[in-house]
Amino acid sequence: MIPVDLAEVLESLADPRMRHAAVVHLPVAAGVLGLPLVTAWLLTRGRSSALRGCIVVLYGSTVLAALVAADSGDAARALAGGAGVEALAVVAEHAAWARWVWATALVPVLGALAWRSSRCRRWSRLVVGAGALACAAHTGLVGHLGGTAVYAHGVGMPRALAGDLDGPANRAAAAGGSLAAHAATSSVDQSTAETPVTFPRDVRPILETSCTGCHAPPAPASGLDLTSLDALLRGGRRGPAVVPGDAEDSRLWRAAAWTDDELRMPPEGDRLTEARLDTLRRWIEDGAPAE
Ligand code: HEC
Repeated sequence: MIPVDLAEVLESLADPRMRHAAVVHLPVAAGVLGLPLVTAWLLTRGRSSALRGCIVVLYGSTVLAALVAADSGDAARALAGGAGVEALAVVAEHAAWARWVWATALVPVLGALAWRSSRCRRWSRLVVGAGALACAAHTGLVGHLGGTAVYAHGVGMPRALAGDLDGPANRAAAAGGSLAAHAATSSVDQSTAETPVTFPRDVRPILETSCTGCHAPPAPASGLDLTSLDALLRGGRRGPAVVPGDAEDSRLWRAAAWTDDELRMPPEGDRLTEARLDTLRRWIEDGAPAE
């Protein structure tokens, strides 16, 4: 018996964090494996067409894998809320470099294809060699930044390790492993009509779970930073996000409640639960107090 439930594996791939984890290692591996391959081809002074074919296939698949990895990475990033500001900065840098891996991997492919034309042979080997080095360095850097985000900061831990999103185990994971945030998050769904809603205890954990994956420095989406109350009240590109005392007039609440068709947050995935929306609405109606 194989101790792996196939259905479970497939189900976990529906989680973009798992999907990303499953595909990211391909470009990194190809970036490294390509070096001995290219060296061997250069040693044949470019004459081995079998090795040249391998180079085209290997780096060609790296281009595709890099595109798939970057795409699943964007989806995974939307779920990175709850991670600390420092961790999100690492993720942002990782994403910025990762976006262009496909272009670097394309260089050796073009160089190897150019060998076919006798006029291009002189620089074909140079382009393949330089492209392979650049690709190894590029995927190495992206892999290093991604690894730092996951292993040093606990961002995007797969569901299998982190537990279900609304289960208690994942509250810690969603909080990026921060115990303080974990303690705060535990009260998210527990506030009742009697207890007043406060920003640090009730609102911030909701934003950290669902919003600050994108709305955080250094480049918050649409200029709206949701990591602190001051920044939240300053608002974003469209102006103030919250009108204290009036939820219906507050862009943040309308976006989260999906009452405006043109602005639905988070842009991917599910709407906040009714309990969380209710917490946001009550906090705004109470005048958006700091405590
Ligand atoms: C995946 C990234 C992502 C996540 C997660 C996300 N947002 Fe956004 N948000 C955006 C983008 C992109 C825009 C700009 C959209 C546009 O201009 O059409 C935006 C715009 C906004 C705006 C308008 C800001 C302005 O002044 O222009 C508000 C309010 C907002 N988001 C609230 C939220 C809230 C609340 C959450 C959590 C429930 C959230 N967002 C989660 C990406 C995200």
